[in-house]
Amino acid sequence: RLGLKTEFMGRHIHSEDVVDSTQKVAQRHVFEGAPEGTVLIAEEQLSGRGRMDRKWHSPKYTGIWMSVILRPNLPPAKAPQLTLITAVAVVQAIEEMTGLTPEIKWPNDILLNGKKVTGILTEMQADADRIQAIIIGIGINVNQQEEDYPEELQPIATSLAIEYGKKLERAELIKVLLVKLEKLYSIYLDQGFYPIKLLWESYAISIGKNITARTITGSISGRALGITDDGVLMIEDSNGTIHHVYSADIELEK
Ligand code: BTN
Repeated sequence: RLGLKTEFMGRHIHSEDVVDSTQKVAQRHVFEGAPEGTVLIAEEQLSGRGRMDRKWHSPKYTGIWMSVILRPNLPPAKAPQLTLITAVAVVQAIEEMTGLTPEIKWPNDILLNGKKVTGILTEMQADADRIQAIIIGIGINVNQQEEDYPEELQPIATSLAIEYGKKLERAELIKVLLVKLEKLYSIYLDQGFYPIKLLWESYAISIGKNITARTITGSISGRALGITDDGVLMIEDSNGTIHHVYSADIELEK
């Protein structure tokens, strides 16, 4: 229906008008054995979820609220890499559609003009040594206008329409995104993470800068050195100690 140019990514697309969260819909599909590349989309989410138990504002018709099911034959520790692959795919798709180059804020916020335009949430089902399925939730703010955002989001959130100055065809963006994602995922399966890591680092804003990472156990400040081959952030503090950060919110120092 979309006129897709992919081999498997998005070959099964289930789109609905209103759902609680496409992540939850995807979980049901995983349970029923949905193949790799299955995509769940909704026009509106009533309880869209963000990272760290936050809500994700998902109003009707304005954004892309989708989840992609992948089934890589890999150990669970590789899951963060799939989030980073997705971030690169989103950046490339936005670049192709608008000519704007978004920046990535580790691990997976995509920013335009310093404001968030896309969030990615990765959830996984795994055994001790193998991923069974990974559900990558992608929320792209496409056609919202500033006044569509609740006041508390206005300083931190933006949309492609706000930054580009024109509304975009969401179906077109989905198509381009699925092509990019399939390509990068195939490169990853063939050649490993290194080529993706280089791309990711070329879009990342935090690398080389002083940042503070807030984790659930406390915060670490220092210079962001880059990411490891597993997608873990490395921060060097003022004593020269290198910390590995798996999950956190980061803030750039001004
Ligand atoms: C974040 O930045 O905190 C991640 C936001 C992820 C939002 C997407 S929208 C589609 C999918 N379904 C959800 O409930 N969340 C993700």
